[in-house]
Amino acid sequence: MPQDIKLRVINIEKSFPGVKALDKVNFSVKKGTVHVLCGENGAGKSTLMKIINGIYKPDAGKILIDEKEVEIRNPIQARQLGISMIFQELNYIPEQTIAESLCVGRWPTTKFGKVNWREIKKRTVELLKAEGLNYDPDTRLKELTVSDVQILEIMKAISYKSDIIIMDEPTSAITLKEVDALFKKINELKSRGVSIIYISHKMEEIFRIADEITVFRDGTVVDSRPVKDYDMKTIIAQMVGRKLDDNFPKEKVEIGDKVLEVAGLTGDGFKDVSFHVREGEIVGFAGLMGAGRTEVMRSLFGLDKFESGEVMIRGEKVEIKNVKSSIRKKMVMLSEDRRRYGIVPIRSVRENVSLSNLKRFIFNGRLHVKLENKTVGDYCARMNVKTPTLDTTVDALSGGNQQKVVLAKWMLTDPDVLILDEATRGIDVGAKYEIYKLMTDLVKQKKALVMVSSELPELIGMCDRIYVMSRGHITGELSREGFTQENIMTLATAQK
Ligand SMILES: Nc1ncnc2c1ncn2[C@@H]1O[C@H](COP(=O)(O)OP(=O)(O)OP(=O)(O)O)[C@@H](O)[C@H]1O
Ligand SMILES: [Mg+2]
Repeated sequence: MPQDIKLRVINIEKSFPGVKALDKVNFSVKKGTVHVLCGENGAGKSTLMKIINGIYKPDAGKILIDEKEVEIRNPIQARQLGISMIFQELNYIPEQTIAESLCVGRWPTTKFGKVNWREIKKRTVELLKAEGLNYDPDTRLKELTVSDVQILEIMKAISYKSDIIIMDEPTSAITLKEVDALFKKINELKSRGVSIIYISHKMEEIFRIADEITVFRDGTVVDSRPVKDYDMKTIIAQMVGRKLDDNFPKEKVEIGDKVLEVAGLTGDGFKDVSFHVREGEIVGFAGLMGAGRTEVMRSLFGLDKFESGEVMIRGEKVEIKNVKSSIRKKMVMLSEDRRRYGIVPIRSVRENVSLSNLKRFIFNGRLHVKLENKTVGDYCARMNVKTPTLDTTVDALSGGNQQKVVLAKWMLTDPDVLILDEATRGIDVGAKYEIYKLMTDLVKQKKALVMVSSELPELIGMCDRIYVMSRGHITGELSREGFTQENIMTLATAQK
């Protein structure tokens, strides 16, 4: 028996200044299935989802729910039609509390018509409890980790009891265990007849969860089939429009002197962390989410304070007071939460890339605009940033392209030590390869690279040595001969 179509879009078109984001897109989702969308950064996936969620109005085309045409003017209306969405960019309000965030748009009121705070808190606690989460409903979002915020977003979307749930890269910041929990939930929802549209750049995930797959390229649908008709190679070839060498561009580079030495670093979430990185080396940090890797790097870069320990750069002890002092020592970090620390969304691509580097373009007190444009343009071209112009604001770029802008900005500072925290997250396979190539170029110029990643294949593919962390400690160090997923996982779950 053919399954019912829950959602269908017909000939959807959408343009933004300078880009045709969607061009006559046809696509349908069956009832009670998981439909995965794949495609390069900027292919149009999020734009289509935002149209279905009522955030953007399509220039042309129709949307049908249960084969009846609907008009979706805003997200509230989308919700009334049974649609909810988890967004790719966690656009949360830092000052909001958990209770406020979960109850937005559905405030219970007292009999006097006032917002019933007691009821809100009660409901929040119930919602949290049902998920096995132990937060105080008054906690402000800014106090939570990225992964906590993401889990709340997922909870919130599911709590609307919608029958179409859109998940735009929901697992970009959560732990493997939480991914398992999410997938279990998705299967439960499916068996209740809910349709899930799932966007991800992670191939393992796609094959674990998909019933159907649709591949986008440049605003059009390339192909759409049941998962059994797909393998990884086919998806990648359809995404990038050509066969891609899925190897890593790792080259043998001469390893030189120690550039960075960290001894006994101790702070909130990590203890007695010691490691070093040499010229020409890519040193990986593996571990489960929450192992303390990000905390170590943040302290090292001066975003957070640490209690004790020493940091030496090129044999000289340095005082890490704040981010400025690290940048002065030519140590920079691409942070995991780009929204908070990486970019200024309402500024242009050019400003975002050149802002930390203005000195490079100032001669006799005057900004050399031509040079600035050329340099920024070159870097963006190398990283294949998809943007209509350099003056486009960053919030108009797709998620993956925003990430590339942050990376371009830090590359341009010509750092000696570059710390990359989940640098390729949300980035499509083609652009990932470009970033690996840039990393290789940097180590050839005797730079020292630290690569924190939750994707073991890229650590194994690109690093010279890997430190593994578990529960705030370094539990082991591996050199290339010892790189296997099993070795890393054993250390990542070890206790110290
Ligand atoms: N608000 C906007 N204003 C202008 N251009 C936009 C806006 N939103 C998206 N675009 C452009 O539309 C195109 C499609 O972007 P979209 O966000 O849909 O890509 P995506 O497939 O979700 O990519 P990613 O994998 O990077 O998230 C891109 O070229 C992007 O720059
Ligand atoms: Mg997107």
